[in-house]
Amino acid sequence: MPIAMLAEEVVDRIAAGEAIERPASVVKELIENAIDAAATAIHIETEAGGRKLLRVSDNGSGIRRGEIELAFKRHATSKLRHAEELTAIRSLGFRGEALASIAAVSQTTIITRHRDEKMGLRLQLQAGVLGRQQPVGAPAGSVITIENLFFNTPARLKFLKTDHTEKRQIYWVVARYALAYPQIAFALLNDGRERFRSSGSGQLADVVARVFGLREFKHMLPVWSDEAPRLGRVALGISGFASLPQLHRASRDRINFFVNGRAVQDSALTHALTQAYAGLLSPGAYPLAALMLTMPPDFVDVNVHPTKAEVRFRDQQLVFRAVQSAVRAALQAAAEHGADVDSWAVAGGRSGRGSPPLEASWRHSSVEDPFNSYAQDNMPERADAPLRPRTLPPLRVLGQAGAAYIIAEGPAGLYLVDQNAAHERLLYQQLRRDLENGGAPSQATAESQSFVLAADDAALLDETAGLFAQLGFELEGFGPNTFLARALPNLLCGQAPGDVITHILSRLRNKGKTAQCAALALAEIAATKRGQMLQIDDMRALIAELERCPEPHSAPSGKKTFVHITSEQLSAEFQRA
Ligand SMILES: Nc1ncnc2c1ncn2[C@@H]1O[C@H](COP(=O)(O)OP(=O)(O)OP(=O)(O)O)[C@@H](O)[C@H]1O
Ligand SMILES: [Mg+2]
Repeated sequence: MPIAMLAEEVVDRIAAGEAIERPASVVKELIENAIDAAATAIHIETEAGGRKLLRVSDNGSGIRRGEIELAFKRHATSKLRHAEELTAIRSLGFRGEALASIAAVSQTTIITRHRDEKMGLRLQLQAGVLGRQQPVGAPAGSVITIENLFFNTPARLKFLKTDHTEKRQIYWVVARYALAYPQIAFALLNDGRERFRSSGSGQLADVVARVFGLREFKHMLPVWSDEAPRLGRVALGISGFASLPQLHRASRDRINFFVNGRAVQDSALTHALTQAYAGLLSPGAYPLAALMLTMPPDFVDVNVHPTKAEVRFRDQQLVFRAVQSAVRAALQAAAEHGADVDSWAVAGGRSGRGSPPLEASWRHSSVEDPFNSYAQDNMPERADAPLRPRTLPPLRVLGQAGAAYIIAEGPAGLYLVDQNAAHERLLYQQLRRDLENGGAPSQATAESQSFVLAADDAALLDETAGLFAQLGFELEGFGPNTFLARALPNLLCGQAPGDVITHILSRLRNKGKTAQCAALALAEIAATKRGQMLQIDDMRALIAELERCPEPHSAPSGKKTFVHITSEQLSAEFQRA
């Protein structure tokens, strides 16, 4: 449908208000426009938390040259004509307001070419006033650049938070749309650095793993239910992922609901979800979730809030019950498959109402392999994974001491686990399994990173290139003693490739040029260091893995992984004198 001005009586029926509050609102509106234009790739760039620059590029339909000025007029839209259509909106936009509101408070440049036209157009606006227009050659799609947001509204500029906060808000906008549209490839760059990327593979599990983290994804369950339309019933679909009870947070900020592809905030939906965990989570603990609801468009009113963030259902109770029962069913199915849904966290939560049986307080997650490779991570069907035999009793993590030791208790006393040595052991075991299975998984670097080695190291690297390839390094010569890292092992996080490689080479030189030595050296340098504060979930994942590690007592380098203080030792200590 061409872009046209809405009739006044339609405008009057649209929920009005300020839609552009901060850089993240701009990103949201521009992403929504790109999705409505059927883009399959959306690229977002920001500078200085979005204050200085925001750019959203898409490969969607583009805007016709004859319509582009209209697109920036308030109440001009191609998505709505008649007031009756407001009751069944199928697009994300419908008010014809976003571009006008954004352009009014910024310096805007749009380059767009409609897919049916040969030439594109570049148009500039300053505080909403149309400026230069010139024909340009451009790929089909649109690139919209917003510079100096709020430059003419200092009051709003003052309300912006730190760059860090604005970046986080932008990240979550992008992450939410990536979750809602796994078939679209999203990329977010902050100040030239890649912050997020989704592949556009169409696999929701891929995006959930990227947004929530691989370890968290391990503890998430697929949720699915599909209510077929029957007489008096509405077709209501629910799909997505929700966390097992052992994975939770102190706030609701990882609960994401989408209604017909729109990210919505709805306290009733959140309440329905938390109700599904009744008795499984202690008060103040909230699950993580990404749940997509689909329903007929006339069952939901999206025209209730100026930023379209809230919706109203024709029958809220029905939606509420559907969410609750879908999540509950997923949790029950997981419990039947052997996942320990009645987690120790639950036992802990109950202790105020009488202590749980002793045995129960040792129990916690039986979801295994938190350090598995990415390929395996992408499989949502975790419950059937074969368990390795236990080598330690079930341990309950109590906390961290000195940013170096994990304090845990077991049925027979206290355990002080050296986080560095234990992680080194686990990474080494993982690498051994990977090597037996043909090599360790790697991930392409966002930008190839170059590094320079000493001449003798460079010669040794040439000689042992095969070992590095098995570990997941993809390296390329780039001049005298200079190399490019195209891909790095998955288990590295953030270390400079030059440092890692120099470390491995020194071990190979001193201890032998074997795959085993190389794996050991890589585990050493990749392991969590002492001095690093750990999140409780990370500690639990590490301990759960150690409990089933074939050699849990020492790191491959010989360091002790834990000290066990038995209950007898403890009571003897206190009863002495
Ligand atoms: N990235 C884009 N690709 C193609 N067309 C676009 C794009 N962005 C905007 N348009 C066109 O410009 C029009 C105006 O966009 P704008 O965002 O202001 O309003 P809207 O999307 O119709 O409604 P809303 O204000 O609810 O977002 C759209 O209706 C659409 O036709
Ligand atoms: Mg729009």
